[in-house]
Amino acid sequence: MAIRQIRTQGDEILNKKCKTVTKFDEKLHILLDDMYDTMKDRDGVGLAAPQVGILKRAVVIDIGNGKIELINPEIIEESGSQTGSEGCLSVPGVWGEVTRPNIVTVKAQDRDGKWFKITGEELLARAFCHEVEHLDGHLFTEKVEKYLE
Ligand code: CO
Repeated sequence: MAIRQIRTQGDEILNKKCKTVTKFDEKLHILLDDMYDTMKDRDGVGLAAPQVGILKRAVVIDIGNGKIELINPEIIEESGSQTGSEGCLSVPGVWGEVTRPNIVTVKAQDRDGKWFKITGEELLARAFCHEVEHLDGHLFTEKVEKYLE
């Protein structure tokens, strides 16, 4: 396990579309473990692989209720609306108000390739949306309605 360097806004890797994960091997497991340690080290609640320079569709999330790993995630259902504060480890020190769906269901594979569905509300729904967007090269700053001090 290791802490990896987090890429920050301006690094073009953050604007690229990530590739589908096809190998659920030890290399992927090490990446996921490193991503989790890196996220925790920086007190984040989510991290996507491009943020550590890897263009693969892999995400880790922990909003305080335990680790969630999403490989090849797709949002399959969303409802409601929430507007709240959002930040990103790749955009340090910046917080802005972003409107997101309030309930989001994601279909994803686990680290061994098994498909599952997970539904999140409020902060977890927000994290699902934020992290999946990273995999398509988008940062939350594109959606900020108002920057917060
Ligand atoms: Co982010």
